[in-house]
Amino acid sequence: MRGPDGLNAHDPGVRLLAKVARARWADRLKAGGGVLLAHCGEVESVGAGATRWILDVREREGAVHRCVDTGREVEALAADGGPFHLALAWPRAHLGLDFSQWSLAAAALGLAEDGWLLCSARKQKGGKRLAAFIESIFGRVEVLARGSGYQVYGASRGEGFDAAAAREACAVRYQWPLPDEHRPAMASGPGVFSRRALDDGTRVLLVHLEAHARRFAHCTHVVDLCAGAGPLAVGAAHRLPEAQVLAVDSNLLAVHDMRENIARHGLDGRVHARLYDGMPPARVPEAAGFEGKVGLVLMNPPTHAPREALATLVAPLRDYLRPSGVVCAVVNRAGTMRGVFQAMGAQGDAYDYPGYTVLEARWP
Ligand SMILES: C[S@@+](CC[C@H](N)C(=O)[O-])C[C@H]1O[C@@H](n2cnc3c(N)ncnc32)[C@H](O)[C@@H]1O
Repeated sequence: MRGPDGLNAHDPGVRLLAKVARARWADRLKAGGGVLLAHCGEVESVGAGATRWILDVREREGAVHRCVDTGREVEALAADGGPFHLALAWPRAHLGLDFSQWSLAAAALGLAEDGWLLCSARKQKGGKRLAAFIESIFGRVEVLARGSGYQVYGASRGEGFDAAAAREACAVRYQWPLPDEHRPAMASGPGVFSRRALDDGTRVLLVHLEAHARRFAHCTHVVDLCAGAGPLAVGAAHRLPEAQVLAVDSNLLAVHDMRENIARHGLDGRVHARLYDGMPPARVPEAAGFEGKVGLVLMNPPTHAPREALATLVAPLRDYLRPSGVVCAVVNRAGTMRGVFQAMGAQGDAYDYPGYTVLEARWP
C-alpha cells in the first residue's frame, strides 16, 4: 500500500521550502549530504544524499533518499549533537501541534553548530505558534519567505540554542487508562493515533469484546490490525488470557509505544507487535504460527482511508482465520467497510452502539 497520510511533494508549502533552500544552499541541496528532511517527504531539488526521517513504514517505498526511522535516531542525536547542516520541515497540521513541535525539536537536535532549520507552515494553521516554538529553542527566528498562504521560518543553531528545551519537547509523553482502571496505564506520545486518551471507537470495541466474551473465549490466536499504541491488543490479551496476539501497525512511533505498553502490562511473549504495511502475508516470519488459527481479528481501521486501501488491508485476513473465525471492525459510518466485506464474499452481522457500529465478518 502506498501513500501515508498527507505527504505531498507538490504542495505549495513544500515548493516554497525548496525555493528558499535553493536560493541559499544550492550546492548543498544538490548533493544532499548533510541535509535532513524532517517528516516532510520528498522535496524537489534535494539530491539523493539527503536523509529522510520517516514516521510510517510506507514512506520508505519509492523514496529517493536514505530513510531513517523515527525514535531511536532522536535519542542518538540528543546524546551526540547532530550531523546535519540544513534541516527542512513541512509539519503536517493534522498530525497535531505536539508532533510538529516534536519533529522540529528533534530536527534542531540533529543540527551541527551553525546549521539551519527551515520550516514551512501556513500562518492560518498554527504557523505563528510554530515560529514561537522555534524561537524558544533557537533564541531567534526569521521569516525567510512568504507565498500561497505559507511562511518559511528559519533559524540557525548558534549561541542562543537551548538544547535542554529541545530535549524536553522530544520527551513529551501521555498516559491514559484502559476501561479496566486496575490495569497499568497505557503510554503514548506525539505522532500516534489517540495518544492522549482511549479512542471512543476503541472503547466500543472493547465493550463488544466484553459483551461477547463467551463466544470468543476459545480463541487461541487473535489479531489486532491497525493496532496503534495497542489498547485493543492489550485489552484482548487480558480478556483472553490463553491467547497469543499479533498486533500490526505501519506507524513507527505507534509500534514503539505498543512495545512499551506490552511490557508495562507484563504481556511480553504473548502480544507480538509488528511494524508492517497492512497484514503481513501469512507465511512471513513476523506472522509465524498464526496462519489458519485466528479466531478473532479486532480492527479500528483508519477512518480516512479510501475503500481500496481498506480492501487491501483486509484481504490477507482470510488466510489467518480458522473456519469459525470472525473479524470485528468498529466504524462510525458502516457503509464503506460493509461494502469492503461484502465485496470479499463475507457474511456478517452489525451491532449498533451509540455513535458506532461493530461489523462482524466471517467467511462461510
Ligand atoms: C484509527 S487508528 C486505531 C489505532 C488503535 N487500534 C486504537 O484503537 O487506538 C488506525 C491505525 O491504523 C494504522 N494504519 C493505517 N494504515 C495502515 C497500514 N497500511 N498498515 C498498518 N497500519 C495502518 C495507523 O497508523 C493507526 O495507528
